[in-house]
Amino acid sequence: MTFDPTLIASSFAAVEPHGVKITKYFYEHLFDNNPGVRPLFARHMEEQEDRLWNALGGLVANVEDTESVTRILRSLGTRHVGYGALPEHFPAVGASLLATLRHFAGEAWTPQIEESWTALYGVITATMSEAMTEAAVGTGRAANSD
Ligand code: HEM
Repeated sequence: MTFDPTLIASSFAAVEPHGVKITKYFYEHLFDNNPGVRPLFARHMEEQEDRLWNALGGLVANVEDTESVTRILRSLGTRHVGYGALPEHFPAVGASLLATLRHFAGEAWTPQIEESWTALYGVITATMSEAMTEAAVGTGRAANSD
């Protein structure tokens, strides 16, 4: 499955005017459905909300530049080892991200957009998880449960 960069960019632009409501909805959805990850996000939730959204915006802006996207995601993945994030957390975060985009896009949401975001999130998961696992091996920390 591959993603359509035009659909990713246009759907992201369509939800963007909702501003801070988007990340609030995302974290509420994530924590309601996965209370176990809540303690990982102890610090500065408001700051964190902006950062996650800005990081996504950076990815969407570069989505056609595979090299930049890979570099951004590997670096994010490496930093996430220090936050206690694990590769197995990605499906939960992806489900909340998709639910959030779907909610704010409203009637503009289509099965094609859903498919593109699912494919892009697959790339995000694979690239970040790989960097996390490598970084965890380097520090002797376990980044997956295998
Ligand atoms: C779409 C994938 C993700 C993106 C774009 C993303 C983005 C970010 C960004 C930009 C930060 C701020 C710090 C930094 O830049 O290093 C951050 C922090 C963090 N992320 Fe993620 N993240 C993603 C997935 C995940 C997953 C799967 C988890 C697992 C639970 C997670 C847990 C955390 C935690 C715990 C922090 C630190 C929060 C704090 O300081 O309180 N993230 N993330």
